[in-house]
Amino acid sequence: MAFNNKLKFVDLELKRLKHNDLYRKLKYGKSNESQYTINGKKLLNLCSNDYLGIPITKIKIKQMQSSSRLISGNDELYKILEEKLAKHKSYQNSLIYPTGYMANLGAISCIAKKGDLILSDELNHASIIEACKLAGAKVSIYKHNNMEDLCKKLKQQAKNKFVITEGIFSMDGDFSNLKEIAEIVEKSNAITILDDAHGDFVVGKDGKGTPNYFNVAKKIDMYISSLSKGLGSFGGYIASQNNVIDLCTNKSKSFIYTSALPSFLIEYSLKRFESDREKQRKKLENNTRLLSNGLKQIGYQINSKTHIIPINIGKEKTAMNFGEFLFKRGVFVQPIRYPTVPKNKARLRVSVTAWLSKNDIESSLAIFEQAAKKFKLYF
Ligand SMILES: Cc1ncc(COP(=O)(O)O)c(C=O)c1O
Repeated sequence: MAFNNKLKFVDLELKRLKHNDLYRKLKYGKSNESQYTINGKKLLNLCSNDYLGIPITKIKIKQMQSSSRLISGNDELYKILEEKLAKHKSYQNSLIYPTGYMANLGAISCIAKKGDLILSDELNHASIIEACKLAGAKVSIYKHNNMEDLCKKLKQQAKNKFVITEGIFSMDGDFSNLKEIAEIVEKSNAITILDDAHGDFVVGKDGKGTPNYFNVAKKIDMYISSLSKGLGSFGGYIASQNNVIDLCTNKSKSFIYTSALPSFLIEYSLKRFESDREKQRKKLENNTRLLSNGLKQIGYQINSKTHIIPINIGKEKTAMNFGEFLFKRGVFVQPIRYPTVPKNKARLRVSVTAWLSKNDIESSLAIFEQAAKKFKLYF
């Protein structure tokens, strides 16, 4: 197709991104356990969200797709998985969406309305930010994990008040102050919505997530998560009481007006849910300890207590150079830049998985040590 001059303005936007070191380019590769191969180069994968590294589950692809779930895409396996997820998290029911992103969009926007107030942590994920915009309620952003600010902002008048936070923050790897949040929210008769995409299946007893870890599961009114991270499958879901699930089924646009996940993915999630998740969780805990302590010993300032370990760099260009340095030596960690994180707070987001062997961790630490020497200015 010939270049269309009417779209010339797109070049200007791309130029601006490049000028600000914010341009992104897709890298095509193949993922295999702890490795990622790009153009034949084998790299240790330290940026995968397949935290539990559950061994590959074999399934037969029997059916592809039919339609949205309210039409004829609602394979009976959905019911089995939804019941298991609800029971695992101690809720009455759950509802699976095609992705975690869509679960946030759909559930938050159909429950909060004009006249309501949403209090959202300033570091909440893009899907929560977009969901809040769609909801039409007043949105008040509170400072990250700052309970004083949350309490102050909760004093605003509104019909219904919602507090939304992540369980483990995706780019900082810190836990939310969920215990305090749950208590504050309860006192003010507000509603707690938790996005636990990075805590689900990883923390708490039997991987029941951040609410279980903090012993506040009963105080979280709506639990939203992804099947694409800890469980290493695909999809998203909300777990809550029956009437909320009923409303989401009836009013969530990202649930109604889209095709259902194909049934083989539901079967895949079910098999992984039934696998020995506990063994993988223990391995992940051990790997997190090894990598985190190893980085600290080298001299990195590591504050994270979870499997998401950010190495804060600051300038976008430096983060890119840092990532490139690691890449050349066989470690794959993508630099994370604005708008995923604030400007000048670029970082390398190291994520630990149970796929990594002790040997993998030791060899990546040796490369991080070389990087620490080269970039010592920043530590
Ligand atoms: C906190 C958080 N919520 C939701 C999502 C979206 O989940 P999914 O990848 O299933 O769409 C992500 C994924 O990056 C996330 O980090």
